[in-house]
Amino acid sequence: MKTILITGGAGFIGSHVVRLFVNKYPDYKIVNLDKLTYAGNLENIRDIESKSNYEFVKGDIVDSAFVSDLFKKYGFQGVIHLAAESHVDRSISNPTEFIYTNIIGTVNLLNAARAEWTEKPGDNLFYHISTDEVYGSLGEEGLFTEESPYDPRSPYSASKASSDHLVRAWYHTFKLPVVISNCSNNYGPNQFPEKLIPLAINNIKNMKAVPVYGKGENIRDWLFVEDHAKAIDEIFHRGKTGETYNIGGINEWKNIDLIQLLCKIMDDKLSRSAGTSASLITYVKDRAGHDLRYAIDSSKLQADLNWAPSLQFEEGLAKTVEWYLRNEVWMNNVMTGDYEKYYDKQYVKR
Ligand code: NAD
Ligand code: TYD
Repeated sequence: MKTILITGGAGFIGSHVVRLFVNKYPDYKIVNLDKLTYAGNLENIRDIESKSNYEFVKGDIVDSAFVSDLFKKYGFQGVIHLAAESHVDRSISNPTEFIYTNIIGTVNLLNAARAEWTEKPGDNLFYHISTDEVYGSLGEEGLFTEESPYDPRSPYSASKASSDHLVRAWYHTFKLPVVISNCSNNYGPNQFPEKLIPLAINNIKNMKAVPVYGKGENIRDWLFVEDHAKAIDEIFHRGKTGETYNIGGINEWKNIDLIQLLCKIMDDKLSRSAGTSASLITYVKDRAGHDLRYAIDSSKLQADLNWAPSLQFEEGLAKTVEWYLRNEVWMNNVMTGDYEKYYDKQYVKR
């Protein structure tokens, strides 16, 4: 039996990865380590919490002694590291937290894995989950490949770039077995409503303004979260040690076009007359340093590991809308504390 540590498994992507691994690999013991920040929610994984091959540990990856003790206690053979501060806007208002969790937290895990695997060498792997935002911003043409130079622009992407470099440094210097993937924007169930799609769904549902930053012309490549989880499964089991894989949806959307599509779906699902949801679109002050375009070339992953996105965007988006409309309680429970205050403050009309 292999014991695998998944960090950040109560968050958006992590919860889908935990679910996939717990259900698909009954021979693995999955330990989910999560601090349960505002973005972590045990409701996301309620359905698997009583499985015998699953255990949850609440803790902070920034606490090096705690992380090192955890490795000694469980003797992990694999790590899938997702825990992070993940929202660009929050990294602009509070960068320091991103440095602690995304950089120091990653180093603590690398150190603990190195200590454990020096003592017990074998079939071990440290899999670091990262973002395409480390490559910076594209113009109208071109795609990010695994060879694209790093050029992060936000405190979030700079902290993730830093952690990617450190993971590679541990591979080259200490021969720690690692693999890295850099993925485009994810969407789907359980995403905290600070990110564009769930925030817009929630606001449209409640007939509140849908904030579009700048002119809405920024472009993102969107991937359904379960397709990301499947790619992570392939890379963890069949990826080559020391390699990097780009993961993307081959699905570029201008923000305003995406929001218009979402408005149409919402009108339809809520039986509203055409145009009702779109009337909520409100252009607001642009994000500082807003990256223009992200787009991923995932041909290496497709060729080497035979992975491809399975869902068409319209289908995935409709599924996502249905999930949020069905899970009103989830949505209300995660919007705790100063949520309203924090998000209303950003809506400075252009
Ligand atoms: P999320 O914000 O939804 O979840 C992050 C999780 O990490 C939460 O459960 C939180 O409680 C936990 N966490 C935060 N700080 C911690 C700490 N100090 N110790 C332990 N746990 C801590 O994030 P997400 O969107 O699911 O992203 C997961 C990973 O995937 C991140 O590393 C992110 O950089 C990467 N990624 C995200 C996207 C995306 O579109 N969301 C795209 C590519 C890569
Ligand atoms: P987001 O979901 O925050 O992801 P990221 O910044 O990591 O790409 O934002 C996606 C895009 O949507 C990005 O170009 C910023 C824009 N955006 C808005 O226009 N309005 C919003 O309320 C949010 C949260 C994002």
